Amino acid sequence: MKKQKIIIDTDPGHDDALAIMLMEKSKLFDILAITTVAGNSTIQNTTNNARFVLDLIESEIMLYSGAGAPLKQKLIKADVHGDSGLDGIVISKQEKLTNNAIDKIIENVINSPDEVIILALGPLTNIAQAFIKEPSIISLVKSIVIMGGAINVPGNKNRVAEFNIFVDPEAADIIFQADIKKILVPLDVCNDVFFTLDDFKCIDDLKLYKIIYDMMIKYIDNIYVFEKTKGAIMYDPVAAYYLINPQAFTAVEMNVQIETHGKLTRGMTVADKNLWSEEEKNVSVIQSVNKKEFREDFFRIFNN
Ligand code: BDR
Ligand code: CA
Repeated sequence: MKKQKIIIDTDPGHDDALAIMLMEKSKLFDILAITTVAGNSTIQNTTNNARFVLDLIESEIMLYSGAGAPLKQKLIKADVHGDSGLDGIVISKQEKLTNNAIDKIIENVINSPDEVIILALGPLTNIAQAFIKEPSIISLVKSIVIMGGAINVPGNKNRVAEFNIFVDPEAADIIFQADIKKILVPLDVCNDVFFTLDDFKCIDDLKLYKIIYDMMIKYIDNIYVFEKTKGAIMYDPVAAYYLINPQAFTAVEMNVQIETHGKLTRGMTVADKNLWSEEEKNVSVIQSVNKKEFREDFFRIFNN
């Protein structure tokens, strides 16, 4: 059977790292490219980190670096991933920046019209820039799965905004306005899916386990400081899992717009929650994930 074509746009990030491994190890996808974006850390660091992950799992997926800053503001890095974006791992190798992620997104979509799903795990800068540069690709993308937003829960960056949207609200606005099938995996579902250090012990490959342990010990400490959750929150792996097992999720169609101006609310994903609303629904908002299935599949795939 033909495998689903995917582009993973990402800012690794501990959870991005696990999401990349999960997607690649599942062997379910034809991953055309990994495109990096500045977010959790600088573009140099997120690209170094992506290369580290690909080398770790001996993957030959093409890696392209993209935007070094959001469309209209300076980069605001994350807290929970440390300065390098992958706290706990020492990476000395500087990956050469190719600076062509936007062109590669455009090229891959044009080469496979209606066949490519974009998995967006970081700020939406690269994808927005691709849509600005070549608007014709908007109608050619099969769908976009976005880890981002906070619908009924507090934000993790300001009172109401989730990190990926907060870092580049103008880019998010372009994507949310675009006529394209969107699936949003917000904090509402991700906050509640986390693994403890003990959970990772069931990874059989000792070399992989040791490195994941070194990553997770730092991530878990940082998550506790900033989120008060006692475990590694699986934001990006949950979004990736939607592509692996969509049946494990429930969703509601909603109209969601991005606040780009508010003094207190910039980056908010403003959802129309009126069930009687006649506003056009532009996003499938994930409401729940079967945590048991996620956990079982996650570790089964890691031990494939
Ligand atoms: C999102 O922000 C990043 O820190 C994570 O990698 C994830 O994509 C969660 O808000
Ligand atoms: Ca991320």
